[in-house]
Amino acid sequence: MSLARDHNAHIVDQFSQQAEGYAALMKTSPSAAEQAMLALVRPAPDDRVLEACCGPGTMALDLAPHVAHATGLDLTPAMLAQARAEQASRGLTNLDWREGDVYALPFEDEAFSLVLCGGAFHHLERPQSAFAELARVCRTGGRIFVRDVTPEAGKSAGYDRIEKLRDPSHTHALTPDEMSGLGGGLPVQAPELFPNVAAGLRLEPILAASFPETCTIDDIRALILDDARSGEDRLGLAAQEQGGELFVSYPVTTAVWTRL
Ligand SMILES: C[S@@+](CC[C@H](N)C(=O)[O-])C[C@H]1O[C@@H](n2cnc3c(N)ncnc32)[C@H](O)[C@@H]1O
Repeated sequence: MSLARDHNAHIVDQFSQQAEGYAALMKTSPSAAEQAMLALVRPAPDDRVLEACCGPGTMALDLAPHVAHATGLDLTPAMLAQARAEQASRGLTNLDWREGDVYALPFEDEAFSLVLCGGAFHHLERPQSAFAELARVCRTGGRIFVRDVTPEAGKSAGYDRIEKLRDPSHTHALTPDEMSGLGGGLPVQAPELFPNVAAGLRLEPILAASFPETCTIDDIRALILDDARSGEDRLGLAAQEQGGELFVSYPVTTAVWTRL
């Protein structure tokens, strides 16, 4: 079995366990996040959308009421089950869901006008190859959006270390510069970058939706508490202890490319 297949098996194992908790976490996201996404994407009624690595359909579901059609693709059937359930509860009909791998998208060249991928590049072993697939299925003049956590270069190693403990399917969170370079050599314009911080998130619900394999949740909490108390932010989470509770912040970048 190839390394990529091993890693994909790891992904499906992790996200089958995480599916229910992750979908619940997404539902509690403030609608401000949806409004910010819509303001950035500016969907048009004739757009055809692909959300790759869609998990519970986070962006595809929010975009569907504004576009002609949206497709969500993910490796993990349990995540797609969450997406279908949410589609039914919202009464949306212009969506479909595909089980598949972002490295080999089962779509024609230039099949979509908007191609999005959120919260997933840090799980990929070959981000450049995945991006090339996103660009392939985006039509000329269409746009590609990649949103992910992007620790600054000096915090990257610490961030990857704690995240690999918390979620063994984590590989490497791109820095903003690395994300910006994803389109190198491909028929896309230089990206516009939109940095943001998902600030002051309670750690406990995140831990409750985590399934570490080489240590316990208590070990992870202890490492983050130690980092918060050190005041050094070695883990890139800006961890803070307030009223006996731990809070973390994730630096996030959305990069937007226009397909040439
Ligand atoms: C953290 S979730 C993000 C879900 C959603 N995009 C969001 O923003 O909330 C990451 C998702 O990426 C999927 N994934 C990881 N590697 C993948 C691959 N090679 N092909 C397709 N999906 C993949 C996982 O199954 C998981 O559902």
